[in-house]
Amino acid sequence: MAPPSVLMVGTGEYTTGFVGGGASGSDKKVGVVGLTMFDLRRRGKVGKLSMVGVSGRKFPAIKQHLHKNISEVYNGLDVSFESFPADDQTDPDAYKAAIDALEPGSAITIFTPDTTHYPIALYAIQRKIHVLITKPATKLLEDHLKLLEESRKHGVFVFIEHHKRFDPAYADARAKAQKLGDFNYFYSYMSQPKFQLETFKAWAGKDSDISYYLNSHHVDICESMVPEYTPVKVTASASTGTAWDLGCVAETEDTITLLVDWRKKSDPSRVATGVYTASWTAPQKAGVHSNQYFHYMGSKGEIRINQAKRGYDVADDEQGHLVWYNPFYMRYAPDEEGNFAGQTGYGYISFEKFIDAVTALNEGRVTLDELDKRGLPTLRNTIATTAILHAGRKSLDEKRSVEIVSDGSDNGWSFK
Ligand SMILES: NC(=O)c1ccc[n+]([C@@H]2O[C@H](COP(=O)([O-])OP(=O)(O)OC[C@H]3O[C@@H](n4cnc5c(N)ncnc54)[C@H](O)[C@@H]3O)[C@@H](O)[C@H]2O)c1
Repeated sequence: MAPPSVLMVGTGEYTTGFVGGGASGSDKKVGVVGLTMFDLRRRGKVGKLSMVGVSGRKFPAIKQHLHKNISEVYNGLDVSFESFPADDQTDPDAYKAAIDALEPGSAITIFTPDTTHYPIALYAIQRKIHVLITKPATKLLEDHLKLLEESRKHGVFVFIEHHKRFDPAYADARAKAQKLGDFNYFYSYMSQPKFQLETFKAWAGKDSDISYYLNSHHVDICESMVPEYTPVKVTASASTGTAWDLGCVAETEDTITLLVDWRKKSDPSRVATGVYTASWTAPQKAGVHSNQYFHYMGSKGEIRINQAKRGYDVADDEQGHLVWYNPFYMRYAPDEEGNFAGQTGYGYISFEKFIDAVTALNEGRVTLDELDKRGLPTLRNTIATTAILHAGRKSLDEKRSVEIVSDGSDNGWSFK
């Protein structure tokens, strides 16, 4: 069977690294999705590639950027793809024509503002197209559950791109946590520098908040570490002021903290506390693009991980400060033959696992239930994360604690 064709939806920082007319100032100057897909095509794992955005006018510059920063760097790696809409058109619905051009069994990746994940994913699922959605899967719990129902109806795989599940340190810690008794306490912090508010000005504070953008990572890690527990109450708190000083819209919070009560499914007397904090108003020159760490405590032990300053550090006069790099996430240095060599990074592995699962499903070698049982970040395995993030938003908007009620079934989730 031919490898699946893949349509990349969204042409921004994560897909191409091209933002605001040039390369992103973050650690993703050439993006992640495009580079990974071009390399998976070189390795024969994906077939035809296409990309869709809102404005076709950006494509000539994007193609030039990819040629200069990928083809010329990695041994002439083929960066060609079919683009939608045409170079002289602007069309927010162009994703429909791009998806209609795919064969059933093909796949799409969605890296667009959070509010657009649901309609784009639903359109693809209903046409028997497998879907990878960046985190957060959806903003609303009911949308997440609807996508789950539709994906089972149409027999397609939906994978949420929670790449931190494949970070070697986090994956090892998850296994260790299973041996540390009952879940008792989890604390996480994740931040990015203020300039991201400029990169994301089209949607930051309007279509998404910092909790959806960054807390989503550690809430998912926590969910994946404690399958015996379910979240029952969320109380959110936010700090404000810095984003406003930078000209962001009034709804933009700086830092959001979610305080979550978790209860053991088999013994409701066992309660655990999760505290998840995320910020996009961190200093510009913190030395790392994303600060990120967590502390897990069980009844028989604890785990502490600091993911920010690992790998190696570089002092570069042009940067004017020490910078820590993380090649475990995306390794951009070519190998001795000049080819891209980042296949071991968890930013890449996450996409390869999705594509391998799609191929195995298309060839009848695996079922959707088996993929859920493998603990992959499927729609079914990430319901609690969406419930917590949505409850956090409600808690801030309604200025109260929000209870999460669940009977354990796919559709049995609601708020009180
Ligand atoms: N940038 C990162 O480091 C990163 C990492 C992980 C996940 N994400 C997630 O990626 C999403 C945003 O993508 P980004 O980081 O590339 O941001 P971005 O703002 O740079 O790009 C967003 C892209 O979405 C496109 N878009 C908007 N509406 C669309 C539509 N209707 N059809 C097709 N394309 C549409 C825009 O044209 C733009 O190219 C968010 O959900 C975010 O949480 C980003």
